Amino acid sequence: MTAQRLRTLRSWSLIAPAVAVLALLAAGGPGRAAAPAGPPVPRVPSDSPTALGYSARGADTCLICHRTNARVMGIFRSPHAQPDNPASPFGPGGLQCEACHGPGGAHVKAFGMKPAGIVVFGPHSPTPAARQNAMCLACHKNVQHAWLTGAHAANDVTCADCHQIHGATDPVRMRATEATVCAKCHAGVVARFREPFHHPVPEGTMTCSSCHDPHGSLGADMLVKSTVNATCTACHAEMRGPFLWPHQPVSDDCLNCHAPHGSVVPALLREPTPILCQQCHDLAGHPSVPYGPQGLPAGTPNPYLLIGGCVNCHSRIHGSNSPAGQDLMR
Ligand code: HEC
Ligand code: HEC
Ligand code: HEC
Ligand code: HEC
Ligand code: HEC
Ligand code: HEC
Ligand code: HEC
Ligand code: HEC
Ligand code: HEC
Ligand code: HEC
Repeated sequence: MTAQRLRTLRSWSLIAPAVAVLALLAAGGPGRAAAPAGPPVPRVPSDSPTALGYSARGADTCLICHRTNARVMGIFRSPHAQPDNPASPFGPGGLQCEACHGPGGAHVKAFGMKPAGIVVFGPHSPTPAARQNAMCLACHKNVQHAWLTGAHAANDVTCADCHQIHGATDPVRMRATEATVCAKCHAGVVARFREPFHHPVPEGTMTCSSCHDPHGSLGADMLVKSTVNATCTACHAEMRGPFLWPHQPVSDDCLNCHAPHGSVVPALLREPTPILCQQCHDLAGHPSVPYGPQGLPAGTPNPYLLIGGCVNCHSRIHGSNSPAGQDLMR
């Protein structure tokens, strides 16, 4: 239980709200401007909000008790508080608080002492993840398609694990703070960005969602494009090819040689050269050029194995468009 919530509880006079609620419940009534006009005869249409378990006066009822919680009141500074937008919870016809928290009639009748079927969000919520998310997806249908394909939905991550709804700002949607939200669960990945060579996420030039769709995607690892290479070459177009002389592992997968997040090796390489190259290329020697320093003065280091040795000569490592580039040297 948060300190804030404890404060809320302590600041309560239970009697005043109880009296007010009883008065409201007795009045019943069409206090909710939003309630759809039913047919004239039945006083409570069977599909009216109250008949379906919603409170009689929407937010006005909820706020009798919850208005002292500054965090709750933050909803009115959020993008959801659009009184003129019929798609918004607070727009004409909207169910207001209960659009997200579900029917709250029973919770109100219990004077808030029991959740009584309301949807509670957040990491310690008793409400199952799928039910929490269904409340949001009912309106955000554009997110649903990606969401259902992703690892987050499959692992019971909720919208509210990332999004802060009761506030003017939502840290996960701001460049400077997005990664700190991911770090709650992916501390190991975020730590890679502190290695000496890394994609400029901590610098704010890009975010995790430059490469990943946090809602999900059909590509592996929830990448924004269907393959690793399509994701990388969306920004690094010069490595996309096609080349006259391609280097097979490049067109296969950039991750054969690069780490996506961070590395201790320059250019985000998985291993320094020549070890990197020799994972695939024979240690024994070039077909026509000997690897060893034979013929050179004693003590000369092996030029093929110096730091960066291979790319000193094979500088067109991603592929060459030169007619004479078959050895990736020009
Ligand atoms: C758009 C969906 C949405 C609407 C509308 C909404 N809430 Fe929430 N509510 C949430 C989510 C999500 C959380 C979890 C905390 C967060 O994300 O900020 C939450 C948290 C809460 C909490 C717990 C706060 C705390 O201190 O931990 C209360 C109480 C609450 N809402 C009441 C209300 C009331 C009252 C209204 C109407 C005035 C309302 N909510 C409108 C989505 C919504
Ligand atoms: C009679 C007072 C009262 C009314 C009216 C009331 N609540 Fe509550 N509500 C409480 C109490 C008490 C709690 C438990 C203490 C707490 O968590 O703040 C609570 C808890 C909650 C929580 C769970 C907070 C959490 O994180 O555990 C949500 C969400 C919530 N109420 C939403 C609503 C909504 C939506 C309405 C309007 C339909 C509403 N409440 C009406 C008193 C009330
Ligand atoms: C009753 C429909 C409705 C419900 C339920 C609802 N939303 Fe929204 N949401 C909207 C509308 C309308 C907007 C404003 C869109 C705009 O201004 O373009 C919005 C805006 C947002 C935004 C900001 C988008 C932007 O571009 O600024 C986020 C994030 C969001 N909602 C997440 C959620 C989450 C998470 C939940 C569930 C806790 C939720 N919504 C529940 C209708 C809803
Ligand atoms: C893993 C964290 C995470 C989770 C979980 C998550 N979101 Fe988001 N959401 C984001 C980020 C990050 C952005 C901003 C993306 C961008 O700027 O490209 C975003 C953007 C949005 C937007 C505004 C842009 C858009 O795509 O329309 C909406 C609406 C939204 N999320 C709704 C949801 C809903 C609904 C859920 C739950 C079904 C959800 N989100 C779950 C991280 C998350
Ligand atoms: C509440 C915890 C939580 C938060 C916050 C969270 N994730 Fe995740 N994420 C998970 C879980 C659980 C999985 C699935 C298990 C795993 O791969 O670790 C996952 C998996 C992933 C995967 C791997 C997908 C796959 O197909 O294997 C990516 C990529 C990812 N998350 C990105 C993000 C990004 C980006 C953010 C921030 C915008 C974020 N996550 C925030 C819990 C979280
Ligand atoms: C430059 C693009 C890029 C950026 C930026 C990026 N990722 Fe990734 N991420 C990838 C790729 C590519 C993979 C697949 C790695 C693999 O298959 O070995 C991946 C894999 C993952 C995975 C699943 C595998 C693992 O390593 O655990 C998670 C979780 C993840 N990323 C989270 C994040 C988070 C959180 C951020 C932001 C702090 C982030 N990523 C930023 C490209 C990126
Ligand atoms: C959203 C655009 C974007 C995407 C997508 C992207 N990158 Fe980058 N990449 C950058 C930026 C920006 C830099 C930093 C450039 C700088 O500092 O000059 C960078 C730097 C690099 C570097 C280091 C360059 C150097 O000189 O040290 C490598 C290697 C790299 N990216 C590979 C990849 C790979 C592999 C992928 C796919 C997993 C990828 N990038 C996806 C934008 C992107
Ligand atoms: C066979 C290993 C290998 C593969 C596969 C590979 N690279 Fe590289 N990449 C390197 C090496 C080695 C360097 C360092 C070059 C240097 O130091 O001159 C490098 C450097 C880079 C750089 C920064 C320097 C520059 O030339 O701008 C970027 C960006 C880059 N690679 C992107 C990619 C992308 C995108 C892919 C996938 C399409 C990819 N790489 C696949 C080996 C590879
Ligand atoms: C993941 C395996 C892999 C890695 C790592 C790798 N290569 Fe290759 N390389 C290949 C394959 C496969 C070919 C194509 C061989 C063929 O066509 O017979 C190739 C071809 C070449 C060619 C000759 C071009 C041709 O078609 O004859 C050169 C030169 C080369 N690689 C240099 C390097 C260098 C330098 C590195 C390190 C920066 C490196 N390679 C890393 C797999 C790899
Ligand atoms: C001093 C320049 C130089 C350095 C350094 C160098 N190479 Fe070469 N490499 C060549 C030349 C010249 C050729 C083409 C002539 C030949 O086929 O022997 C070649 C050809 C190759 C080929 C193609 C062989 C074939 O079948 O056509 C591969 C693979 C290769 N080098 C890998 C490497 C690797 C791995 C390293 C680092 C350990 C490396 N080279 C370092 C000059 C160099």
